[in-house]
Amino acid sequence: MIGDRVNSIPEHQPVMVSEVMSHLITDVNGIYIDGTIGLGGHSKEILSSLNKKGHLIGIDRDDKTLSIAEKNLARISTNFSLYNRSYADTDLIIKEFGKQAVNGILLDLGLSSAQLNDQSRGFSFNGDGTLDMRFDQQHGATAEQILLSKPETEIADFIRLYSEERYAKKIAYNIKRAEKMATVDDIREAIRLSTPPAKRNRTFARVFQAIRILVNDELNQLNIFLDKFINQLCIGGKIVIISYHSLEDRLVKLAFKKLKAEGQLLILTKRPLIATNDEVTENSRSKSAKLRAGERIK
Ligand SMILES: C[S@@+](CC[C@H](N)C(=O)[O-])C[C@H]1O[C@@H](n2cnc3c(N)ncnc32)[C@H](O)[C@@H]1O
Repeated sequence: MIGDRVNSIPEHQPVMVSEVMSHLITDVNGIYIDGTIGLGGHSKEILSSLNKKGHLIGIDRDDKTLSIAEKNLARISTNFSLYNRSYADTDLIIKEFGKQAVNGILLDLGLSSAQLNDQSRGFSFNGDGTLDMRFDQQHGATAEQILLSKPETEIADFIRLYSEERYAKKIAYNIKRAEKMATVDDIREAIRLSTPPAKRNRTFARVFQAIRILVNDELNQLNIFLDKFINQLCIGGKIVIISYHSLEDRLVKLAFKKLKAEGQLLILTKRPLIATNDEVTENSRSKSAKLRAGERIK
């Protein structure tokens, strides 16, 4: 994902665009939800493909991101509505929009390059910002508050679970013994004290991702969505989910399998689709992307 700038509005290099479009769009007059609109990278493509009667509903927990998406989309069409909410609320949002179901829903999980590159938000281990890491900066506890309030054993458990880090226990020990845990540098130091220097950047990346997943309750939000999305699609409507973490991909895979067993979902991707070598060369973030898609059939 690249935050290149056109007329000073940040843009976003969306992942696996042609795969998303070919699996998502069935009716150019339809209503589509982008549940993680980010800077609007995928949404721009979706809007461009729709007719005047078509509509895009964009959702993001991050209000800063949403206002950038609004500017990016306004260049293409006015046929969109934006909601500063969680995609776990898509059922309520569809009702508020005055409909019962939509033609397709896209989730592109994780965080955007704009969020990663904004040093003040604490997502990047390269940065020097405060330890916030919330997508929604108006609600919930920051990474600092969570790391200070949770007991050492719980911190070790979630780091181990979400990052598969073998030194999780030691990292938790050093987090709890640090003088303060307010900045990216503080957590980096606790990791540095706990792990061997080899491949340290990968360790930083994994542990930062684990903390972000916890702060934003990401797996729980995904589970809430997976439990009910099928009823939000019209018959023939499509679901497309891109995940970047094996735990997320597993949840999607299991949910799709269950719906298939119930005769409600046709799985369109027997195995998850991955980015082509060319795309990975051009956009390194696509390297870990896994795309799964399905169609509501009952
Ligand atoms: C990978 S980015 C999406 C990029 C987007 N597809 C694009 O092309 O610009 C993921 C976005 O999902 C948002 N997000 C994460 N969890 C969310 C949730 N539960 N509900 C809504 N948005 C969420 C993040 O704030 C971030 O902007």
